[in-house]
Amino acid sequence: MSAEPLLRLEQVRRSFDRGHIVALKGLDLAFKANESVAIVGRSGSGKSCLLNIATGLDRPDAGRVLWQGRAIGERQEWARLRRSAIGIVFQEFHLLPTLTAQQNVELALMSGALGRHEQSQTAASALERVGLSGRAGQLPSELSGGERQRIAIARALVREPAALFADEPTGNLDSGNAEAVERLLFDLQAERQMALVLVTHDERLAERCDRLVRISDGEVVEDRPTERMAA
Ligand SMILES: Nc1ncnc2c1ncn2[C@@H]1O[C@H](COP(=O)(O)OP(=O)(O)O)[C@@H](O)[C@H]1O
Ligand SMILES: [Mg+2]
Repeated sequence: MSAEPLLRLEQVRRSFDRGHIVALKGLDLAFKANESVAIVGRSGSGKSCLLNIATGLDRPDAGRVLWQGRAIGERQEWARLRRSAIGIVFQEFHLLPTLTAQQNVELALMSGALGRHEQSQTAASALERVGLSGRAGQLPSELSGGERQRIAIARALVREPAALFADEPTGNLDSGNAEAVERLLFDLQAERQMALVLVTHDERLAERCDRLVRISDGEVVEDRPTERMAA
């Protein structure tokens, strides 16, 4: 076991509007393999910005991001990481509307080594794991919000990533669907031994993680084990 964290942000700065809005103010943060971390903070505190930079969807103005101790810079390196090691789930699901549930999940396997038949089988078993075998042929528009998010989770996990990032994954769901999606995320984290980084403003959900990181005005103002861990 290496002592190196899975992912590290070093002195990450990000501003908008020619520097008038500073979203991240030289932020240092590391995530270990296999831990679940809640990122909490008020709306506008920089949580999504942090997540986008941690997954290479956005670039910092200054500072760097290291994956297993190695600084990741190139766009292609990030794309490769997102295909192989990093899964992302968004509040708005981001499914392709003209593709079925099955095809949305298969898309994540297209650039890999699997043949057509294996892609299809792997996607089908991911859909089965999230409880949607019976919905594989439906379009997103024919599914509920909770079902759409479960497809997005299947898509994010089909490559068996070492880390799953989720930005307010239950933000668009009613409480029943939110609970099902939360349970699925934590069950999958335990099964797959992956890191889970969960952006949420739900403090109750945050306490289900191992660690809580609070962001305020682009800075880490609290970083502690949750009460669940302290117990
Ligand atoms: N593309 C953008 N252009 C201008 N300002 C932005 C952009 N993205 C984020 N911001 C600003 O950066 C700050 C942090 O935003 P964000 O990370 O989305 O917050 P959170 O996810 O915590 O609600 C906010 O002040 C937001 O308005
Ligand atoms: Mg946000």
